[in-house]
Amino acid sequence: STTRQERAQEIRRLAEEHNAVILAHNYQRPEIQDVAHHTGDSLALSRLAARVEAETIVFCGVHFMAETAKILAPQKKVLLPDPNAGCSLADTITAEDVRVWKAEHPGAAVVAYVNTTAAVKAETDICCTSSNAADVIRSIPEDQEILFLPDQFLGAHVKRVTGRENIHVWMGECHVHAGIDGHTLRERVASEPDAEVYVHPECGCATSALYLVGSGAVPEDRVKVLSTGGMLDAAAKTDAEKVLIATETGMLHQLRNANDTTRFEAVNSRAECHYMKMIDSEKLLDSLRHGTTEITVDSTTSERARRSVERMVAIGR
Ligand code: 13P
Ligand code: SF4
Repeated sequence: STTRQERAQEIRRLAEEHNAVILAHNYQRPEIQDVAHHTGDSLALSRLAARVEAETIVFCGVHFMAETAKILAPQKKVLLPDPNAGCSLADTITAEDVRVWKAEHPGAAVVAYVNTTAAVKAETDICCTSSNAADVIRSIPEDQEILFLPDQFLGAHVKRVTGRENIHVWMGECHVHAGIDGHTLRERVASEPDAEVYVHPECGCATSALYLVGSGAVPEDRVKVLSTGGMLDAAAKTDAEKVLIATETGMLHQLRNANDTTRFEAVNSRAECHYMKMIDSEKLLDSLRHGTTEITVDSTTSERARRSVERMVAIGR
């Protein structure tokens, strides 16, 4: 049987042969993150997709991420090694839902989290990711109503940090992050009183995290609400002995690579996204060998969605 190293060499050889770049989200399996040319959060990977020179982008992530890459780089071939890698959060809203919601709020600006289908993005004014959501909200005139979709926890978070009242939030959630709830977080924090805590804003516990700070149970500088990319930046700088991580567990791989003196532990070790884990080295190899599965977005949808996605890429760090 081929070893992991031989498979990795074959993947890199095929990528070179086909002029392909491999992008991997921070939640991918370690074997995928290690062989990818670039790893990152949704915003960083979108920016990379827009500027890489390779003819083909092999996106190791989920379907909406490959679609976003295709929208930003329409002339490139975009491959998703398993076309069934979906997203429970993106599934909580359809383009028709957005049209109905907009009709109820004429004049509102529609802000969509990047975890949405291309058809939904086409109905929106501006997209955001967890790393630039607040900056995107601040780019909209104060007196304009905002429809924020589809994640209720990220929506509640941006409302809190921007202090804006005129934001209506769609009640969607990601099943993985919703499962990292306030009860679990409070228990973990109580048993690890000295640890720092990094919380992804999609988590059910994102509100509890700030409540813990507000109530004085945890000092403010120990709790941070961050995107996966933000977690990596913070991890590289911290001198904490231990950091508790509230997000999908695939994140631990990059965090441990970034800092080998701090211990990183999951708040909920069962928080695994089975969609993200659908891609393994065998499927990545097949994808490079056979060009599977090509992701396309019809040109009308793509053009409408592109305005919204390009605004997202231009805002924030
Ligand atoms: P970020 O990597 O942008 O923080 O997104 C997390 C996520 O849930 C992607 O599915
Ligand atoms: Fe979607 Fe949640 Fe999986 Fe991210 S972790 S891809 S939001 S289901």
